[in-house]
Amino acid sequence: MKKNAAEFETGNDDVFGRIASRYDVLCDLFSLGIHRLWKRKVALLISQEPWNELLDSASGTGDIVLKILNNKQLSDEHQIVASDICPNMLSLAREKLKEFKRHIEFELLDAHDMSSVESSSVDVYSMSLGLKICNREKAIAEAYRVLRPGGRLITLEASNIKFDWLHRAYLAYMSLCMPLIGWIATGGDGSAYKYLLQGVKDFPNAEGLRTEMENAGFHDVTFERMSLGIVAIHVARKPLE
Ligand SMILES: C[S@@+](CC[C@H](N)C(=O)[O-])C[C@H]1O[C@@H](n2cnc3c(N)ncnc32)[C@H](O)[C@@H]1O
Repeated sequence: MKKNAAEFETGNDDVFGRIASRYDVLCDLFSLGIHRLWKRKVALLISQEPWNELLDSASGTGDIVLKILNNKQLSDEHQIVASDICPNMLSLAREKLKEFKRHIEFELLDAHDMSSVESSSVDVYSMSLGLKICNREKAIAEAYRVLRPGGRLITLEASNIKFDWLHRAYLAYMSLCMPLIGWIATGGDGSAYKYLLQGVKDFPNAEGLRTEMENAGFHDVTFERMSLGIVAIHVARKPLE
């Protein structure tokens, strides 16, 4: 099993640093705006959980956190960590979320090794559209470590359309359009989309990701396919000891 579907190494190529300022527009272009629905659903699920400490990993420009803050009235007990490995992404998130800054800490964290985050300290750990560019085994194990017993892991990630022929057609469309739009929109730097496309192609299906979460120790792993299965949202619980 390839542990990093996109075959991506942040240390070798600061792709997200290069595209950070165009990332939000590119998301709209590639998904025809549908990523907003997916993220709204993730934010709703997170808002419905009881939590005081939320860690949003691979936050990018902070979309998920912003949508949560639009849903949920926070009190002084609520603390959110918006984290990413890429400083450019994190500074855009800081700007986007500045009116909520008393509730948010921005931290440069590698999802594979978050040693500055205490074990069993987080109520909800979320990651949206980041797992495909991470070593899943390591990232899921870190999520498990930092979550308190009973805490929830909530992920949004590429998945598989259930009808094989449609999935193949979707991948063919993505293979043609993603590099082209990416190349045009970035003024000749389509490299991010090479990784993302690879990540979409090689990511496990929703059942496969559920098994990986269960193998990491999570219980009650459920998933919901969205947009016919282009993406899936997984929710998993760290068992009470
Ligand atoms: C496709 S973007 C998703 C951003 C955001 N969560 C969203 O839904 O729009 C992936 C993000 O993962 C970050 N990233 C990549 N590798 C990472 C790692 N090892 N640890 C933390 N963040 C990482 C990138 O810098 C980028 O901001």
